[in-house]
Amino acid sequence: MKAKSTIALAIIIGVVSFVGCGKSSSTNKGDRTANALASYVAPGEKDEYYLFYSGGHSGQVFVAGIPSMRHIVTIPVFAPYPGTGYGFDEESKKMLGDFTWGDMHHPALSQTDSKYDGRWLFVNDNANNRIARIDLRDFKTHQILGPIPNSIGNHGSSFITENSEYILCATRFSVPLPKGRVADPKDYEKEFNGMVSGIKVDPQTGEMKVGWQILTPPFDWDLGSTGKGPSSGWAFWTSYNTEMAHDVLEVNSSQKDRDLCAVVNWRAAEQAVAEGKAETMDGVPIIDPAKVPGVLYFVPVGKSPHGMDVDPSGKWVVAGGKLQPATTVISFEKLKEAIAKKDFVHGGDVRGVPVLEYNDVVEGEVPVGLGPLHTQFDGKGFAYTSMFIDSNITKWKLPPWSDEEKKDLNKVVLDKVPCHFSTGHLVVAGSDTKNPYGKWLVAMNKLSAGRHINVGPVQPESSQLIDISGDKMKMIAEAYTEPEPHFAQILKVSEIQPAEVYPKAENKDPNAVWDKENTGVTRNGNQVVAKLTAIRSRFTPDRIDAQVGDDLTVHVTNIEQTRDMIHGFGVIEQNINMTMDPGETKTFHIKLTKAGVFPFYCTNFCSALHQEMQGYLVVSNTGQPLPGAVYSQPGNETQPASQPAASPGN
Ligand code: CUA
Repeated sequence: MKAKSTIALAIIIGVVSFVGCGKSSSTNKGDRTANALASYVAPGEKDEYYLFYSGGHSGQVFVAGIPSMRHIVTIPVFAPYPGTGYGFDEESKKMLGDFTWGDMHHPALSQTDSKYDGRWLFVNDNANNRIARIDLRDFKTHQILGPIPNSIGNHGSSFITENSEYILCATRFSVPLPKGRVADPKDYEKEFNGMVSGIKVDPQTGEMKVGWQILTPPFDWDLGSTGKGPSSGWAFWTSYNTEMAHDVLEVNSSQKDRDLCAVVNWRAAEQAVAEGKAETMDGVPIIDPAKVPGVLYFVPVGKSPHGMDVDPSGKWVVAGGKLQPATTVISFEKLKEAIAKKDFVHGGDVRGVPVLEYNDVVEGEVPVGLGPLHTQFDGKGFAYTSMFIDSNITKWKLPPWSDEEKKDLNKVVLDKVPCHFSTGHLVVAGSDTKNPYGKWLVAMNKLSAGRHINVGPVQPESSQLIDISGDKMKMIAEAYTEPEPHFAQILKVSEIQPAEVYPKAENKDPNAVWDKENTGVTRNGNQVVAKLTAIRSRFTPDRIDAQVGDDLTVHVTNIEQTRDMIHGFGVIEQNINMTMDPGETKTFHIKLTKAGVFPFYCTNFCSALHQEMQGYLVVSNTGQPLPGAVYSQPGNETQPASQPAASPGN
């Protein structure tokens, strides 16, 4: 067995290094003009789709346009991003908490009735067990939930249910629970546990909270997806390491010929919790599936799978099997029948969770090629699977299959298009809805292997845009992103209307100021509060006085109501960098420890006088303000009473 796995690994390494050598263009000269036109968005024209890439361990979401594949904007989520001042103002600092990075994997657009509703984008953090919500009204992160209790390695998410009731998550790692308990990894099988979590989403506000959890054996849960139509109320995850190995996983977790997928009836889980069948751990109701039957089942599929994807009809669930050359198609109808008949593997339960018979639930194994990783659908009855080892996308036909096709499933494999290189995930526009847009597929390749200008050893990821509107797939364009997209979502531009400015009337920040009468600096004991406006090309006031040891709070309101008129607020040598969009108020708080005069300035090039948009933070160490110090409220102990209001104005 050991030898077999080593051979498999050698094949992987061999193939990867082989494909890495090819550098020439894959586009025939004759196709160039047509392909260029297909992805060309002329100056002044706009893309038709948004492509929301997860940014992996950059902790960010990258937004590109389709068909141009141009990167348009970065949405910071789990990591500070000086470009938008994210992680410097109080609100975003609080959301990030103690973490300055996250490992983002699978983005999910919110859905209503199994269609994108254009409200939110949810993303997961594998590293610190969190889920975040981006509002598509302003393309900003509004909530980060977590670390989720009793959950380690939040990799198997964000998978959203068909009306955005829940974000469903499964753990990649297992630990002794509750968190903080210590046990020897040698006792992995006995002491360690994985978890499936239901994160409840408020239907009005999108606010998330941990709903319930289901205890699982310590398998490493991987990709999943949620049911729709006939499979409504169910969710599915692949796993690896059903061997429950705790060391040398590369070998020890590939011993069995099949791994087990999780089949979760999340509505039953919800009901079980409502009926008081859960026990509480770390504040969360936890269902033990051995005590609450009907919540969790296992299905065997091909070795070390990755993707587990429900097709738009909700009838077929397709599992990848990275170490076998086929995708496994599970029939949800057969699966439901087997469950109803309690047709389980005799004596084959794992910790009281029934295992279904492979042959009872599988419709067929489609010989798609080597290293099938993830599958997407176009809504016309076709599936598209990424091949990590073969470096291509395979197009194949979903069931129902004719008798002849069933005899030889090679007949349902319709087309292959080479990718460059080692395709990980792929996305078809709208694949996870009941009505995919189809038309475009983006292959997210793990290795770019020098197909771009040489940028040194730091290599980007490569993405390739493929036209899937015809019988044969057509490779159209190639683009690069920073590491590392693990899946993406595609949304039609016409389905959302993001705000272009924050309307003044909607700014509910109690510290917002809109005219110079209300601006100023006040002192109360050692609390100094400054309220500033920013507008081309001035901060009012443009001087803030304080003392060493003061707590300084600065609120800056960008009073512009004009699109694109963004102002920044950077303070020299204080590690302060905020960005205020039009109509927005941002706040920072700082304990002043150094005396000196610290210039502050606008960081966004806003106007011809942008460079002049500056002021001074004066921090004295004398215990007394300088004669020129200006406070807007008389009566405090250190401020001159008769000074004029903050700024001379214009
Ligand atoms: Cu405001 Cu530059």
